[in-house]
Amino acid sequence: MSTTEQDSTSLAVEKDWFANAFDALYPIIYAHRTVEAATGEAAFAIARLGLRPSSTVLDLCCGNGRHMVHLLRHTPDVVGLDYSRDLLGFARTQLGAEGKLLRGDMRTIPFQGAFDAVANFFTSFGYFQDEAENQAVALGIARALKPGGRFFMDYLNPDYVRAHLEPESEREAGDFVITERRWIDEATERVNKATKVHRDGVLVNQSSESVKLYAPDALQRLLADAGLVIESRFGDYDGSPVCPENPRQIIVGSRG
Ligand SMILES: C[S@@+](CC[C@H](N)C(=O)[O-])C[C@H]1O[C@@H](n2cnc3c(N)ncnc32)[C@H](O)[C@@H]1O
Repeated sequence: MSTTEQDSTSLAVEKDWFANAFDALYPIIYAHRTVEAATGEAAFAIARLGLRPSSTVLDLCCGNGRHMVHLLRHTPDVVGLDYSRDLLGFARTQLGAEGKLLRGDMRTIPFQGAFDAVANFFTSFGYFQDEAENQAVALGIARALKPGGRFFMDYLNPDYVRAHLEPESEREAGDFVITERRWIDEATERVNKATKVHRDGVLVNQSSESVKLYAPDALQRLLADAGLVIESRFGDYDGSPVCPENPRQIIVGSRG
């Protein structure tokens, strides 16, 4: 596996960057995002959503299934939806025969009134450059929920991102050297990242990511327009409030 190197300063973020960013190398580059690391996050979501053994749950953008492992200990009725064939393959290995996995696009969630809860872990929202497409995701969540069903969204905190952005970093993961360049485009209000992976000095992969920086009030409006009502917000998994010093916007709410 080798790829032609682009100058990182000219590495433009593709509109459909998400189609390539979450491939087979993703679990190697982000080896710390494990089932174990997801234990506390899943427990927090399970408690806040009030999941019961009979609850039906959608893990929207389930990735390699690291949260599903925990959700399935509370209810057998968990569906994971993700776009990445590679990550769904890892999820199936991780889950064995348990849980249902579906390849799909979060803009066109193919369910109606099916779930007691929808969970969306670890910044899996705000991916699309066209506002209407992010709106379509929120509408899809609302549509997938039963009336009164609850949702959980763990999304970034723009103030924290702006204050703590590390423009360039390099780290090692196994045989790989990973270089990441991050920047904020204030015109589009997006945080972008270009990642290069080298092995033995040879570029083996490069990808980019781009996420809309929704401030709390903008996110609330977007969700409300989809019929989703926010009931509580947290700035981290310790239950602390949303403020510039805390890294996350963790939102819990329901279909209004
Ligand atoms: C940051 S990862 C988080 C994955 C998982 N929730 C976790 O915490 O490990 C974002 C996930 O969104 C998925 N994804 C990206 N674009 C998508 C789309 N258009 N529709 C569905 N899933 C998508 C990726 O494949 C990836 O698994």
